[in-house]
Amino acid sequence: MNAVAEFANVSKTFATKKGEVQALAPVSFQLHADEFTTLLGTSGCGKSTLLHIAAGLETASSGEVLVDGVRVDGPGRDRGMVFQSYSLFPWLTAAENVEFALKGLGLSRAERREIAHEQLRLVGLEKFADAKPAELSGGMRQRVGIARVLSYRPKILLMDEPFGALDAQTRIEMQELLTEVWESHRLCVLFVTHDIEEAIYLSDRILVMSARPGRIKDDVRIEIPRPRGPEVLTSPALMEYKESLTASVRAEALA
Ligand SMILES: Nc1ncnc2c1ncn2[C@@H]1O[C@H](COP(=O)(O)OP(=O)(O)O)[C@@H](O)[C@H]1O
Ligand SMILES: [Mg+2]
Repeated sequence: MNAVAEFANVSKTFATKKGEVQALAPVSFQLHADEFTTLLGTSGCGKSTLLHIAAGLETASSGEVLVDGVRVDGPGRDRGMVFQSYSLFPWLTAAENVEFALKGLGLSRAERREIAHEQLRLVGLEKFADAKPAELSGGMRQRVGIARVLSYRPKILLMDEPFGALDAQTRIEMQELLTEVWESHRLCVLFVTHDIEEAIYLSDRILVMSARPGRIKDDVRIEIPRPRGPEVLTSPALMEYKESLTASVRAEALA
C-alpha cells in the first residue's frame, strides 16, 4: 500500500514553568492512501499534539513527518485541518468561507464560486450557501468546515475531535455524513477521538495510544464492510471491536 504520510520517531516535550512535560514518546507509523485512520486515546495522551505536528502548527522535539516524501515544515494546503471549534469567518457567508480557502490557487472568482457550491452540495448545505455562520447550527458549521478543507483537495485530512462539541443526535448525523462523503472521496484521513464507537464506525484502522507520554500501543484493522450506514453503530461487529478496544483504552486510563 502507498504511504502518503510517514511519522518517523516523532516526539514532543513541552517546557513549562513546572519543568518539562513529555507529551509524546517517539512515535512511528505510516498512513496509507485512501485509508481512514483514527488515533484513539484518553484525554491528555498527546493526540492533539501529534495532529498539530502533522499540520505544521507545532514543531516536534525529535523526528519528522513526511508527506509524499516531503518534510513538514509549517502549515500547507497539502494538509487540511478541521478543529473541534468552528473556525469560520463570522462575517463571510458559508460559500464565501469555502471560497476564501481557495484564494491564491490561480482560480478565477467564478471557478472558486463553482467549487464552493459543489462542496456545499456534497455536505447537504446547498440551500445555506448564503447564510452567515451565526445563522447556522453547530453541525452545519462543521459541515462548512469540512466542505472548506475538501475544496482544495489536501493529500491528508486531519480532524481533531471535530464532533466533540455537538449534541449526541447531531454527532451521529455528522458521523454518517462524514462516512458518506469519505466513501465517495476516499482520501487519506487522520482523525482524532476519545470516543470508541465513533472510532470504529468511521475507521479502516485504529491506532490506540497509551497514556502520556503517548505512543502507539495497538494497531487495529476494522473489517466492517462499506458502505457503512447508521445501522453499523448498533451492529454486533461494532460491539465486538468495542469490547477489546475498551479494555485497551481503559488499561491506559487506569495506568
Ligand atoms: N502548549 C503546551 N504546553 C505544555 N503542555 C502542553 C501543551 N500542549 C499540551 N500539553 C500537555 O501535553 C499532554 C498532551 O496534550 P494533548 O496533545 O492536548 O492531549 P489530547 O489531545 O490527547 O487530549 C497533556 O498533558 C497536556 O497538558
Ligand atoms: Mg486534544
